Amino acid sequence: MPDISWNLALWDQNYDWTLEGEEWSSWWGGSEAQWFGSIYPRIHRHLPATKVLEIAPGHGRWTRYLLQYCESYVGIDLSGQAIDACKRRFARAPQASFFQNDGISLGDAPDGAFDFIFTFDSLVHAEMDVLRQYMPQLLSKLSDRGVAFIHHSNFNEMPPETDNPHSRASSVSADTFKELVEACGGQVLAQETLNWGGPNLIDCFTTFGKAGAHGDWEPVRIINDRWVDEMTIIRETQSPYSTLPSHHGGLAHAPREPGTLYKGARALKGLIRKYAG
Ligand SMILES: C[S@@+](CC[C@H](N)C(=O)[O-])C[C@H]1O[C@@H](n2cnc3c(N)ncnc32)[C@H](O)[C@@H]1O
Repeated sequence: MPDISWNLALWDQNYDWTLEGEEWSSWWGGSEAQWFGSIYPRIHRHLPATKVLEIAPGHGRWTRYLLQYCESYVGIDLSGQAIDACKRRFARAPQASFFQNDGISLGDAPDGAFDFIFTFDSLVHAEMDVLRQYMPQLLSKLSDRGVAFIHHSNFNEMPPETDNPHSRASSVSADTFKELVEACGGQVLAQETLNWGGPNLIDCFTTFGKAGAHGDWEPVRIINDRWVDEMTIIRETQSPYSTLPSHHGGLAHAPREPGTLYKGARALKGLIRKYAG
């Protein structure tokens, strides 16, 4: 089962990062289509955020979008070469800083600072022992009403003989993750189990915050066995729009001025609050 040394050997040494992870987005027709069609709709309530923490950014497939929605950003990854790649790729983004860690420590991120913590397509390979180390730190890094969106394994819910071609962590499920959040003083806001790349609901997105910060919220539970359909629709009907000409070169290529969208989106949310209630 994937442990920290398995992850380090694969992502730091053996993986060919030539395409910067873009190859994993080909099912959606590219990362731009995947971000706007699949990821952003699930996290838009939490953006823009003043400070964003991303766990395991790899070569920054999602960092380039997250940077548009925040004033400052911290990325922490186990792989030193991934961190070096992010430092090079986002050298012109002064609001971003990147740190290598040991696969369990978030010591480089300040406590109580982050309105949004995000990780996607990475901690699916983290077993419960790693998540047990991370969880108390994640909760302490969040600001009072901050929210974390964590993509993790649900493989522990599968029958023992289930094939595991995507190397999902076998000790983790939506339920074990929720218990961990609650045991560490957190409150689950939503959980979505989904069929990543096949018929089985092997993955889960959990959104959570600090206990009590969101009132007596009843967790939303979504069982999504149409993830592959969603992916196909995005590829076939949305991704062509990501190729259209754009007067600023498209959001993903935009950050001429860091945080431009952050400022615009914040102003817009202020106006909506004022005039639309
Ligand atoms: C499949 S790549 C995904 C990268 C990025 N999230 C993306 O979607 O393009 C997995 C990344 O997770 C990192 N990683 C794996 N286990 C980790 C851990 N326990 N703590 C921090 N980073 C980890 C790896 O070093 C690698 O950069």
